[in-house]
Amino acid sequence: DLFSQVEDPAAALAALKAEIERRNDLPPWAAAATQIVFGEGPVGAPLLFVGEQPGDEEDLAGKPFVGPAGRLFNRAAEEAGIDRPMAYVTNAVKHFKFKPTGRRRLHQSPDAGDIAYYRPFLKREIELAGPRLVVSLGATALKSLTGKPLAITKVRGETIETPDGLRIFPTVHPSYLLRLPDADSKAREYDRFVADLKAAQREVR
Ligand code: URA
Repeated sequence: DLFSQVEDPAAALAALKAEIERRNDLPPWAAAATQIVFGEGPVGAPLLFVGEQPGDEEDLAGKPFVGPAGRLFNRAAEEAGIDRPMAYVTNAVKHFKFKPTGRRRLHQSPDAGDIAYYRPFLKREIELAGPRLVVSLGATALKSLTGKPLAITKVRGETIETPDGLRIFPTVHPSYLLRLPDADSKAREYDRFVADLKAAQREVR
């Protein structure tokens, strides 16, 4: 794999980020984003998490998972015994896609073309980071990683091996938990999410 062949994977990751920044064929909406939000975390981290795309706060900070979904993710990861700074965290799509509405920027889901555009970059990023297990958060990440529109409810919590040898562990996206309407289902689904993260952590220990 690339991780064992490349002499300095951290430098190669920085170069990959710069390469995406320089591209002149980005999806047109990406020009409205403040900046690229690339992955973050130590090379060789056993667990690598893939989200959907940066949100409003991530776009401004230039870092993944620092907004509401990120704070929920951090809390769940801590409860699962995962040291967040020791994990690599990234997104399937590297720019914030939004609709400007008054003073708020409204999140827009990436479409199939957006996911396909960033897919080769995500693939290289993962190869360079060299995790033992890739945890996909939500449908977009799972689709980007497998190339297929798999239902999370069907594959959640079991490891999928891709043809190129990646081990994928699918679970829900933390923003799904934030959107749940009532406290009971929120608490129940949060516990399930923590249980998934624990299972992922167990797989790499
Ligand atoms: N949601 C994501 O999918 N990624 C982030 O970085 C933040 C929120």
